[in-house]
Amino acid sequence: MAEQASGTGAAGAAIEDFLVEDRTFPPPDSFNADALVTGAEIYDEAAADWQGFWARQAAELVSWDQEWHTILEWDLPFARWFVGGTLNVSYNCLDRHVEAGNGSKVAYHWEGEPGDTRTVTYGDLLGEVQRFANVLKGLGVGKGDRVAIYMPMIPELPVAMLACARIGAPHSVVFGGFSADSLSGRINDAECRVLVTADGGFRRGKPNLLKPTADVAVAASPSIEHVVVVRRVTGHADAGDAGPTDMTEGRDHWYHDLMAQADAECPAEPMDSEDLLYLLYTSGTTAKPKGIMHTTGGYLTQVACTHKYVFDLHPETDVYWCAADIGWVTGHSYIVYGPLTNGATSVIYEGTPDTPARDRLWSIAERYGVTILYTAPTAIRTFMKWGAQEPERHDLSSLRLLGSVGEPINPEAWMWYWEHIGGGRCPIVDTWWQTETGAIMIAPLPGATTLKPGSATFPLPGIAAEVVDESGGKVERGGGYLTLTQPWPSMLRGIYGDPERYRETYWARYGDRYFAGDGCKIDDDGYFWLLGRVDDVMNVSGHRISTTEVESALVDHHAVAESAVCGATDPVTGQAIVAYVIVRGGIDATPELGEELRAHVASKIGPTARPKLLIFTDELPKTRSGKIMRRLLRDVAEGRALGDTTTLADPAVVDEIRRRAEAQPQED
Ligand code: WTA
Repeated sequence: MAEQASGTGAAGAAIEDFLVEDRTFPPPDSFNADALVTGAEIYDEAAADWQGFWARQAAELVSWDQEWHTILEWDLPFARWFVGGTLNVSYNCLDRHVEAGNGSKVAYHWEGEPGDTRTVTYGDLLGEVQRFANVLKGLGVGKGDRVAIYMPMIPELPVAMLACARIGAPHSVVFGGFSADSLSGRINDAECRVLVTADGGFRRGKPNLLKPTADVAVAASPSIEHVVVVRRVTGHADAGDAGPTDMTEGRDHWYHDLMAQADAECPAEPMDSEDLLYLLYTSGTTAKPKGIMHTTGGYLTQVACTHKYVFDLHPETDVYWCAADIGWVTGHSYIVYGPLTNGATSVIYEGTPDTPARDRLWSIAERYGVTILYTAPTAIRTFMKWGAQEPERHDLSSLRLLGSVGEPINPEAWMWYWEHIGGGRCPIVDTWWQTETGAIMIAPLPGATTLKPGSATFPLPGIAAEVVDESGGKVERGGGYLTLTQPWPSMLRGIYGDPERYRETYWARYGDRYFAGDGCKIDDDGYFWLLGRVDDVMNVSGHRISTTEVESALVDHHAVAESAVCGATDPVTGQAIVAYVIVRGGIDATPELGEELRAHVASKIGPTARPKLLIFTDELPKTRSGKIMRRLLRDVAEGRALGDTTTLADPAVVDEIRRRAEAQPQED
């Protein structure tokens, strides 16, 4: 019932609401002088006619070969957007900018980890994409055939994606850090005919070979007929002792050999608005990965729209940098498809943020004059741990907007980002979305929304979200489960080959609502606060407490850079809270500090939330995309006696966490 959930800390609520954050940040005047949206009209327009709103976006931001006749056909849970329309995604990303005279505009400033650089213009990209589209055709790839891509962060990765889009072959990008098993599992599920990979890339100062892993995967992938290999490491000055690449005669081909023989021109295939653009696999914690399906017209419309308005994009002057990996949805939507559709200039960086030193990102931001930076809370907390002296070494005055994605951002991490990266002048857009949603769903519009640190604020225009309790009743104020109540253009169209699983996973729990799997609370002003995955919610003496709120209370203490909490089985309280804490650079992890932190949580959000056990650690187990693996921490905690104590920086725990993280299959 809604009234049960209202009121701070109400026991019986689906998820209780403890942490109060009352700092507010209206859009700075300096930002608003030139912002695309400064008022509420766009929300009003979308509220009055949400389908009409999306139709206007589709018409304004995307070029169609043939117009659609119906905006939306909705047969829950199956949506078709812009029905009857035809278009080509690579045409929208490339040709139309070149035709408009912008061929010499930079699409990507690329920087390799060893320091090598490439400047790729829209004209260059169009040329390369057309050739590679012809290469794929030459290998027998036709419209509808699936192509797997397993690559480092090099320009050939977007080239391969766009070449697939050009000929109507859906791609399935597999993150370059995944194992051979993960790769072959994904290839086999989609029965891909071709794999595009590279000999390797550079990470942590050395070559990270991909081809040997790809070979193991392909041996277990009967559908693969050809493997195309980009040369990145072989012959590079920093290749070290990386030997020659094994190439299987007849099956494997060097990218540069095929490109040298390919025709320069390849027309863009007109695609139906609902044709499959790509598959991207997300893994549940245990089950088989789900091939999330994204189609053409609706997807492109929403990524273009959100990229433009959430990042307040001024394509003539902005230098935009999304520091994610293209192997995740964030990279698909906000390194490749959104920015290119909007004609933006972006930065792509190949390697890790601490190579050769901990100021690598700031030196890149300074060098290219980055104006918009989009990264993840996990990265921000790492920068906090490393200390403010790293960004201080660089002139970051070109920055005007910051973004966050991937996890809830703790208010103190938000404040650190605001102060030390944004210099107190850059709005921060905290963007909630998922692989399944395809594009940003809940986020501020930086010129129009007053920010609160840690809140993703409000659903975007055209998006309808509500929080519900256990029984599906709407929660007006307080904590519960996040649901989406109407279809949106970039929504997943299903799980590849498994419509039933699609319905069961997302549409079965709360009637006709899409259930996102996240906890969320709504505050007195109607702001949305994401509370983490509902599987992680802890139950202490009948109180349903979100991990996010306890973690944020810990990070609120000046000594803490990052923390992860979980609930471990406890004979008295059902679950007890166990906290793992990483201190900021230069701070000593003493038992006294541990006591102080436990007391700090109790004073910040109440005695029920006081961690029973607090463990100092110097690292936390994370998924490949940087999300904390709380399930694993729970296992570690449950294997140990839970005294009412602080454990000192306990090497045994750290070893155990590391060992278990390594023993996990390399799934996300
Ligand atoms: C979490 C990444 C809080 C959430 C785009 C979601 C967030 C999952 C935020 C999707 C945010 C992402 N605040 N939580 N701003 N952004 N999440 O599929 O739990 O890799 O369900 O997509 O990340 O992760 P995915």
